[in-house]
Amino acid sequence: MKQILIINGPNLNLLGRREPDIYGNRSFVDYLKTLEAQFPDLQLRYFQSNHEGELLDKIHELGFTVDGIVINAGALTHTSIALADALSAITAPAVEVHISNVHARESFRHHSYLSAKCKGVIVGLGLKGYELAIRFLVMNDER
Ligand code: DQA
Repeated sequence: MKQILIINGPNLNLLGRREPDIYGNRSFVDYLKTLEAQFPDLQLRYFQSNHEGELLDKIHELGFTVDGIVINAGALTHTSIALADALSAITAPAVEVHISNVHARESFRHHSYLSAKCKGVIVGLGLKGYELAIRFLVMNDER
């Protein structure tokens, strides 16, 4: 069974309550149930932390064994060279996801340290972006 690791960074534990006009009304834990129903043949591992070091530890722990990583590092996307280095270090392919269209927001959200370390980036498609990232990671085609 293929394993996909979903990593959410700071403040994403507040999805559903946090700025619903930008991030919607649904908690990630609730959305995860939808993902599990959509992908019954996958083992989805979910990790959220507000602490950069914990995110690094999880990438180190699972980044050599899972089949892919979906990462929304929240604001650490725009600041963390350490997370970029961790994505370079591991063997699993990663896809970066942002719920909001970061390019339509403040300019400090336009740069990501992670994008260059990922296969691709999905922004602005809401929670659907996680589903699309998983579909890409489990495709059997050449990529
Ligand atoms: C976000 C965009 C980031 O700029 C922001 O800091 C977040 C959420 C998104 O999913 O749209 O926390 O990653």
